[in-house]
Amino acid sequence: MRELAELFAKNRAWAEAVERANPGFFEELALQQSPRYLWIGCADSRVPANEIVGLRPGELFVHRNVANVVVHTDLNCLSVLQYAIDSLKVQHVIVCGHYGCGGVQAAVAGAPLGLVDNWLRHVQDVADRHRDDLARFEAGPARNDRLCELNVVEQAVNVCRTSIVQEAWSRGQRLMVHAWLYRLQDGRLRHVNFAPRAPGEVASEYHTAITTRPTLP
Ligand code: CO
Repeated sequence: MRELAELFAKNRAWAEAVERANPGFFEELALQQSPRYLWIGCADSRVPANEIVGLRPGELFVHRNVANVVVHTDLNCLSVLQYAIDSLKVQHVIVCGHYGCGGVQAAVAGAPLGLVDNWLRHVQDVADRHRDDLARFEAGPARNDRLCELNVVEQAVNVCRTSIVQEAWSRGQRLMVHAWLYRLQDGRLRHVNFAPRAPGEVASEYHTAITTRPTLP
């Protein structure tokens, strides 16, 4: 028997169901994609991008990594960002973190895990930058959750600071950058009060985002 036969069976059932509900769906989608959104999220299996926002194949361009980090030297993330903005002309970049993020918890704990420590150093930088803010929260889940909030804001700011976004804005391209947070316990997305659409809005949006708590829409 072929390995992982159950996954192939599920895939076949899914493709048949999609095709039944929408004849020609795959043939049409194969010709081109025109997603309006780029999602930058955590690799966590409990935060499946398309499913959370109810979008079908072709509607969401996706990049995921541990703790939804955006680093200016990460060619992988920057290439996704550039293709999404310059070629696909997405109108929204959504950086989505989540409460209970294992990457964020590991960054706080500081216990050596190996290679990933180098990656999580970026989250520790966020914690260092906001030490006073984090100190207001009890060590443990409350402080970890606050760092999840601050991390997604900082990573969304990093998106805004890339030459890719700066150039898109300077040529007048319509583009909004958002920071969102997902809660594993209820499956709901929260606004993190950060959604600039021009370079002049980044500083004030940042200030609002880090001085407030996320809200349900
Ligand atoms: Co995570």
